[in-house]
Amino acid sequence: MRLSLSYALGLAAAAVAQTNVSSYIATESPIAKAGVLANIGSSGSLSSGAKPGVVIASPSTVNPNYLYTWTRDSSLTFKALIDQYVNGQDDTLGPLIDDFTEAEATLQQIDNPSGSVSTGGLGEPKFNVNETAFTGAWGRPQRDGPALRATAILTYATHLWNSGNTTYVTNTLWPIIELDLNYVADNWNQSTFDLWEEVESSSFFTTAVQHRSLREGIIFANLTGKTSDVSNWETQADSLLCFLQSYWNPTDSYITANTGGGRSGKDANTVLASIHTFDPAAGCDDATFQPCSDKALSNLKVYVDSFRPIYTINDGISSDAAVATGRYPEDSYYNGNPWYLCTLSVAEQLYDALIVWDALGELNVTSTSLAFFQQFDASVAAGTYASDSAEYSTLKSAVQSFADGFVDIVATYTPSNGSLSEQYSKADGTPLSAYDLTWSFASALTAFEARAGNKYGSWGAAGLNATCSGGSGSGGDTVAVTFTIDYDTQYGQNLYITGSVSALEDWSSSNALLLSSADYPTWSITVDLPASTTIQYKYLVIDGSDVTWESDPNNAITTPASGSVTQADSWH
Ligand code: NOJ
Ligand code: NOJ
Repeated sequence: MRLSLSYALGLAAAAVAQTNVSSYIATESPIAKAGVLANIGSSGSLSSGAKPGVVIASPSTVNPNYLYTWTRDSSLTFKALIDQYVNGQDDTLGPLIDDFTEAEATLQQIDNPSGSVSTGGLGEPKFNVNETAFTGAWGRPQRDGPALRATAILTYATHLWNSGNTTYVTNTLWPIIELDLNYVADNWNQSTFDLWEEVESSSFFTTAVQHRSLREGIIFANLTGKTSDVSNWETQADSLLCFLQSYWNPTDSYITANTGGGRSGKDANTVLASIHTFDPAAGCDDATFQPCSDKALSNLKVYVDSFRPIYTINDGISSDAAVATGRYPEDSYYNGNPWYLCTLSVAEQLYDALIVWDALGELNVTSTSLAFFQQFDASVAAGTYASDSAEYSTLKSAVQSFADGFVDIVATYTPSNGSLSEQYSKADGTPLSAYDLTWSFASALTAFEARAGNKYGSWGAAGLNATCSGGSGSGGDTVAVTFTIDYDTQYGQNLYITGSVSALEDWSSSNALLLSSADYPTWSITVDLPASTTIQYKYLVIDGSDVTWESDPNNAITTPASGSVTQADSWH
């Protein structure tokens, strides 16, 4: 076979990156594992004051103070540890996992600013490490936490159940799981702060992990015969899956992270959602945005590309090579920098995709994913490429190198002691913000596992189709609802409405519906809404780019089965 010089040089460069990445992983893996364990109480060497099983976010106590326990960070971290345990990769973790579930059972019951266990307290994002409530001002509630915790504990509970330890599962683990899943089922339709604790609206990551948690909860309930919640969870899971579709932006082919917030919506939120809802049995399904789905791949390219022009350390890197990526391009926290866990999530999504293509024995290029694949072969056409085709080999090895490139970026900017902070500087790559961030270490562990081809339990994503009947979306009966509100506007201001269903533009401020001022100062609009449905909404005052939302809580209306209604509101 004859190779062109540049192709051969490209292969040589790829081989170098692969060697770098392999040796980095060999060194960094044990450091990351030790880094995680150091941050878990009470025996973790850096987690002083933390109760047993409590995960600190970072030992950093100033600039920023992260010596708290977040339900999200803790649950994602323990999911990684539990996967290692149930797969027989580390048999020593059992007692620590028991500490974790006990700590979470305690935290569930602590009264906190979001409420008590039965009045919304499960949505509280963080606690003090001695298991008392954190009472300072914060972006609360964050409704991904209970879902992520349920997912982690369900993995453990399924393993124990199948090993015959049914009493412990029934008496100790099931009550934790059931509380969290009922919270998800009852509250997913309410607004939430996003995983970055900044935007209060609906959020793709939150919706995606909520959906996953209910699906695996249903499987577990059926396995164990604890079926009293199942029919409600099924109904809510179907609605969640329907709602999940509404984040897709078909014009620009990416997933919009939040329904509020007034940003581009390009956000690691969506990449993290894809890897944390990866189901190796679900192929490249679009409905759940699997890592190799055409939508998730298109989204990945749009996300990655948004960081090419904004970080100095990305200058001069060619447009088809890996770069440093962060939370979202508009980020200003610590001046807005790349995050290790975000850059690693890109690699992990690609490694997950490679696992599935390999298992399927083919790779599918669609009009939606074409731009993603054209990065690696400008002449590739839409079609299905079997694993013995030349095109498959080309794309597969290019994606592998691309993925390794993101790990290589992280390797380049990992200090010599292997510590992973939260961020690394966009100017020169030096570590920034909280040091030894537990979640950074955990994200390294899961990315490395995916690169090694290790896959973990399925959660029932295979064969799911989004059907949107009755709830938000098409199909089902509708009723005409007339909204009215009195408002004295200033020159240039207009009244708009948006809400939780597609007929109300799914919480979009940019597509919110304009009310008529024909009867000023009464503003009004009549909208066809799904019948017999509880719908959340808010009014907005918009003057050019100046958007003012009504304050919380959301307004809600439960529509009748038929006919028409008028809903008279006043601004709050
Ligand atoms: C702390 C949060 O944890 C972080 O995500 C956020 O960016 C900053 N506060 C600023 O709101
Ligand atoms: C800030 C991040 O934005 C948030 O996602 C995380 O939970 C906390 N820091 C703690 O690590």
